[in-house]
Amino acid sequence: MASLFVFHVVALVLLLSKTPLLYSSPTSLSLPSVLKPGSTLSVENKDDFLISPNGLFTAGFYSVGENAYCFSVWFTKPLSDKSHTIVWMANRDVPVNGKRSKLSLLKTGNLVLRDAAQPLPIWTTNIIDSKEPAHLFMNNTGNLYLQNQDNQIIWQSFGSPTNTLLPLQQLTKDTPLVSSRSSTNYSSGFYKLYFDNDNVIRLVYNGPRVAGIYWPDSRKTAWASGRSTFASRRTATLDMSGHFVSSDSLFFNTSDSENQSVRRLTVDVDGNFRAYSLDETRRIWKVTWQAISDTCRVHGICGENSTCSISPSHDRKCSCLPNHTMINRTDWSYGCKPKFNTTLCGNGEDDFLHFPNFDFYGYEAKYVPNITREECKKVCLGICNCKGFHFNYETEGYFSCYAKFRLLNGFRTVNSNGSMYLKVPKSIPLLSNSENFVNGDDLICSEKLPTVPIDRAYEKNPKHESVKSLMIFTYVFGALETICIIYFFCRTRKPSTTRQGYLQATTGFQRFSYAELKKATSNFSKEIGRGGGGIVYKGEFSNNRVAAIKLLKEYSNKQGEAELLAEISTLGRLNHMNLIDIWGYCSERKHKLLVYEYMENGSLAQNLHSSKLDWSKRFDIAVGTAKGLAYLHEECLEWVLHCDVKPHNILLDTNCNPKVADFGLSKLLDRDGTHNTEFTRARGTRGYMAPEWLFVNHPITSKVDVYSYGVVILEMITGRSPASDQSLESKGRLDSWVKEKMIAAGGTNGWIEEVVDVTVDGKYDINKMEILIKVALRCSEEDKDARPTMSQVVDMLLQVEENGDNYEDSI
Ligand SMILES: *[C@@H]1O[C@H](CO)[C@@H](O)[C@H](O)[C@H]1NC(C)=O
Ligand SMILES: *[C@@H]1O[C@H](CO)[C@@H](O)[C@H](O)[C@H]1NC(C)=O
Ligand SMILES: *[C@@H]1O[C@H](CO)[C@@H](O)[C@H](O)[C@H]1NC(C)=O
Ligand SMILES: *[C@@H]1O[C@H](CO)[C@@H](O)[C@H](O)[C@H]1NC(C)=O
Ligand SMILES: *[C@@H]1O[C@H](CO)[C@@H](O)[C@H](O)[C@H]1NC(C)=O
Ligand SMILES: *[C@@H]1O[C@H](CO)[C@@H](O)[C@H](O)[C@H]1NC(C)=O
Ligand SMILES: *[C@@H]1O[C@H](CO)[C@@H](O)[C@H](O)[C@H]1NC(C)=O
Ligand SMILES: *[C@@H]1O[C@H](CO)[C@@H](O)[C@H](O)[C@H]1NC(C)=O
Ligand SMILES: *[C@@H]1O[C@H](CO)[C@@H](O)[C@H](O)[C@H]1NC(C)=O
Ligand SMILES: *[C@@H]1O[C@H](CO)[C@@H](O)[C@H](O)[C@H]1NC(C)=O
Ligand SMILES: *[C@@H]1O[C@H](CO)[C@@H](O)[C@H](O)[C@H]1NC(C)=O
Ligand SMILES: *[C@@H]1O[C@H](CO)[C@@H](O)[C@H](O)[C@H]1NC(C)=O
Repeated sequence: MASLFVFHVVALVLLLSKTPLLYSSPTSLSLPSVLKPGSTLSVENKDDFLISPNGLFTAGFYSVGENAYCFSVWFTKPLSDKSHTIVWMANRDVPVNGKRSKLSLLKTGNLVLRDAAQPLPIWTTNIIDSKEPAHLFMNNTGNLYLQNQDNQIIWQSFGSPTNTLLPLQQLTKDTPLVSSRSSTNYSSGFYKLYFDNDNVIRLVYNGPRVAGIYWPDSRKTAWASGRSTFASRRTATLDMSGHFVSSDSLFFNTSDSENQSVRRLTVDVDGNFRAYSLDETRRIWKVTWQAISDTCRVHGICGENSTCSISPSHDRKCSCLPNHTMINRTDWSYGCKPKFNTTLCGNGEDDFLHFPNFDFYGYEAKYVPNITREECKKVCLGICNCKGFHFNYETEGYFSCYAKFRLLNGFRTVNSNGSMYLKVPKSIPLLSNSENFVNGDDLICSEKLPTVPIDRAYEKNPKHESVKSLMIFTYVFGALETICIIYFFCRTRKPSTTRQGYLQATTGFQRFSYAELKKATSNFSKEIGRGGGGIVYKGEFSNNRVAAIKLLKEYSNKQGEAELLAEISTLGRLNHMNLIDIWGYCSERKHKLLVYEYMENGSLAQNLHSSKLDWSKRFDIAVGTAKGLAYLHEECLEWVLHCDVKPHNILLDTNCNPKVADFGLSKLLDRDGTHNTEFTRARGTRGYMAPEWLFVNHPITSKVDVYSYGVVILEMITGRSPASDQSLESKGRLDSWVKEKMIAAGGTNGWIEEVVDVTVDGKYDINKMEILIKVALRCSEEDKDARPTMSQVVDMLLQVEENGDNYEDSI
């Protein structure tokens, strides 16, 4: 047996030396970028790929589901979350079996994709007049093309795009881009970017139940949207430097134009058309341009009887109208149906619910200009299938009435003077305020949808015994080889470096060595802050990147590397403009450090009494901080509590935008883990701590952060710091002080001037200030259930920014 093993090893070594290409890792030696006539790529052979000479693009079989593959082109290197970005697919709508499927390059210059179970090819280039052989090239630009012996390109993937346009690839009249169905389902979706009959590039939603053009705004003429209909050609391209040029006069430059980056333009699953650049160090795509900024204007995302609103972290979310329920729990496009019985027409039993700042686009049963609200109600009551109306202010004393027979494309309007009136039966008690409506509790996280396995079973051919035994031999031999290769691999590499590479790939973090950080911080000499979690130092790396480096004291002995990594990899997935970026970490024996981006302007605490922070900046800080915290608490992510919200942990960038920092104290909770045992010990900073910390059996929820946020806002407004000797009695507490002033004023708003910090420069809008204070007071309520959620706070504050008047009644 031993001699047999030696024989195998010798055979293997010989094999290795003879065919080095076959056994080397893809990074160290280049894989072929050309496929010769008569050869095939097989789905089963994991080495059957074409890689562009520069290594950027790979062509091969890509797994799109259980036992389902599509022949695709993708960016070779994975992103930080290990996913690959696909730029083209041959058979996006018909995936092939994971066994015995093949892509063959015929001698006639045709490319044919076959699935063993199907008699006909799944996909083919079908170049009829080609009789001569051609080579298949994977080009550096991402173009997969067939070139014959006369150097003519007879077919190219750039000529049949799916959802992505790469730099130098032309969008033409015959090649629309069509979105994928979802982030996990690559088959053709409902959003299309195309050249319309009048030569204008448009985005259309072409769904199973409704359809509509939404970009450019179909209420305007093409000309009013800056487009030309007089083009003689229909082409558009993006160049390498980020300049987009189209024959319909749509020109744009990406935000990082002039720089050389890896770019793509994609019609995303959410219906927006975006330009992306690759951040090579962090391995994420950054949006550098998008067609639609108000993403609720995209049609079809929320179905009938529902509305779309912008949520701080996920671009947008759908909510049912009040007292309506989702028709299909997994798919918003089905819309919502009423929970109550709708009344018959014309019996005068109907009433209207008022929703300021909402609109439903299209589907008018009747349009009546220059009309009063009461008359408009009568119009809608008089139409049997009128579901409600939009009442819009046009000019001074002039309103229009749009009675609607379907409530589709509902959205919150940022700057319009219209209101929506929903027709409801008078006899039934309905929810009469819009708060729950906006924050619909029916949120479904589309990312978390289960993926349906594609069933592509095929009949197995009975095999001859000899073939079987040969196969068994092959497998055994293969297994031995694998063992040997792994052995050699482990012997020749230091384990620490492989782990480092692995971590970098999975989390997008950089792992720093202690020596490196020690050097960057000049032996930890530049202390810039001290927090519960440890001391923060300023560090500068040799490439001039400045960082804030935090030496964690809590972790130094208690926790192992695995726990630390689990925690920071979760934090690394958080990515929001109002949260501090984490660049990396160090973990060497007892040294545990985190490396953050550095904020030049310090913390809110340092700037609280600075004259540079005028009232409008303070308001923006309140909104930005709320957005950052709302993102942390968001339902769709793992639930992260901050637990130490205070002015010292709100940092300001050069434009004074707030970034919430220091997740040192935050612990991840299970979604329902309100009684988490991790929280037996009180955390946070006196003065900002919610009362429930002091009681043993009170559950700790995200409302502790809401409380601290409320105190921070009050501090920012009044300039007074919260009493640090926090007692159970309400005396001396900041919120009580403000409330007392408010009550003493007895209904007038003179109290506002009394509580507002007089040393701060600049004017403030008294209504806006009143609302901000009231929101802060609600946040710092003793009873945690009386406090709003962080996303409700964002909604309330944004509503004030849009239109202060309409807000009053919902407080
Ligand atoms: C292949 O890539 C080069 C740039 O590397 C480009 O100039 C050329 O046009 C591309 N060829 C095709 C057929 O796409
Ligand atoms: C894009 O940049 C080019 C030069 O870099 C400039 O000429 C052009 O005006 C810019 N286009 C737009 C739409 O900003
Ligand atoms: C362009 O690249 C330079 C150097 O890599 C970088 O400093 C700069 O911020 C980039 N500009 C934009 C707009 O991304
Ligand atoms: C809900 O939508 C999914 C996906 O579109 C579909 O597969 C399912 O059959 C639908 N369920 C119902 C009850 O209509
Ligand atoms: C939307 O609500 C109306 C009643 O207000 C109802 O007649 C209609 O069927 C609902 N739409 C869907 C898709 O259920
Ligand atoms: C709606 O009407 C049906 C039959 O007319 C009745 O059985 C049902 O209870 C009603 N539902 C509500 C919520 O009133
Ligand atoms: C709107 O109607 C009122 C009376 O009904 C009339 O006086 C006014 O001129 C109308 N305005 C416009 C712009 O037509
Ligand atoms: C909204 O109404 C105000 C006056 O009340 C007007 O100045 C403004 O232009 C209107 N905005 C829109 C979008 O109609
Ligand atoms: C409407 O919703 C409110 C609050 O969710 C509830 O109290 C009320 O009973 C509902 N009305 C109907 C008719 O379902
Ligand atoms: C993708 O969507 C298509 C069209 O709705 C559907 O037929 C297919 O089963 C879906 N595939 C997966 C993996 O969910
Ligand atoms: C760095 O600091 C440590 C103590 O913090 C000290 O022991 C060591 O000598 C210092 N090294 C240098 C090069 O200053
Ligand atoms: C923030 O930093 C910038 C540049 O460093 C400076 O111009 C600005 O005044 C600072 N703002 C505050 C509030 O310190």
